Amino acid sequence: MLKRLSIAVAGGLLLASTMAGCGGSDDAGSSGGGDDKITLGFSQVGAESGWRTANTKSIQESAASAGIDLKFSDAQGKQENQIKAIRSFITQRVDVIAFSPVVESGWGTVLKEAKDAGIPVILTDRAIDDPDTSLYKTFIGSDFVAEGKKAGDWLVKEYEGKTDPVNIVELQGTPGAAPANDRKAGFGDVIKADPKFKVVASQTGQFTRTDGKAVMETFLKSQPKIDVLYAHNDDMGLGAIEAIEAAGKKPGTDIKIITVDAVKDGMTALSEGKINFIVECSPLLGPQLMDLVKKVQDGQTIPQRVLTEETTFTPEQAKEVLADRKY
Ligand code: AHR
Repeated sequence: MLKRLSIAVAGGLLLASTMAGCGGSDDAGSSGGGDDKITLGFSQVGAESGWRTANTKSIQESAASAGIDLKFSDAQGKQENQIKAIRSFITQRVDVIAFSPVVESGWGTVLKEAKDAGIPVILTDRAIDDPDTSLYKTFIGSDFVAEGKKAGDWLVKEYEGKTDPVNIVELQGTPGAAPANDRKAGFGDVIKADPKFKVVASQTGQFTRTDGKAVMETFLKSQPKIDVLYAHNDDMGLGAIEAIEAAGKKPGTDIKIITVDAVKDGMTALSEGKINFIVECSPLLGPQLMDLVKKVQDGQTIPQRVLTEETTFTPEQAKEVLADRKY
């Protein structure tokens, strides 16, 4: 950081004006640290889900224990806020920028600015669709297509040997976000092999409990027969459970439910039989991210892709691990 301090001071006026337009109650606007600690600018998606809260905690705690000065910015679900935060990090001359992109597209210009400024970028949790992979050093996170496939595989097995049509409703994540696109694609790829599976309605629930509930209410009104709900995350599934119960139906029995994440609330519902299957997506990316930040800062070569290890859970498995579930 020291080596960049003079530039940061010179850029002080510009920084003040840049941050005047930056939303959020975070510290993206404060200047970089004055010691020789590594400074990491991190732009988070928001606080839309239990997964996101656990992810933020993991990043903040890991930065503290790795001795990294973290400049954390909450984009409140808006790409324009992330772009502003990244520009602010560039102006502050942080050592490394990491971010979890709200959506996949539209990052080329700002990432080129970071590259031109000589600041390495790490994608965490979500990918971008820019073909120029030189815009970032690595991408650490889950394989969302594989997660969708695991959800589809469970369904195929569950209905093995049955011939009646299976009507599925789908709650998608935030439109344009990698986990929404990929979880839909992976699931669709598996179930298309058997025409008895039919997605009769598919709509975004924005990865939130509130929207998951509201959209499920409309599905229940518009669809005469729903056999299965596939929700792209636990929070939307949990909101949908409230709607299903309010409609006088039994979640997990009258309507089978598959979700993704495996946060504590989801695992609790799974252990109670209200959810039938959860595909894990780990939010605990902090320790690996800090390790990568240190290596990048050190000039070490790192892999272009760092995959998160994940599993799946049935109700019985959820009961076994619930007490130790940290998030
Ligand atoms: O990008 C990860 C996804 O974002 C999680 O599955 C979801 O809960 C979150 O909002």
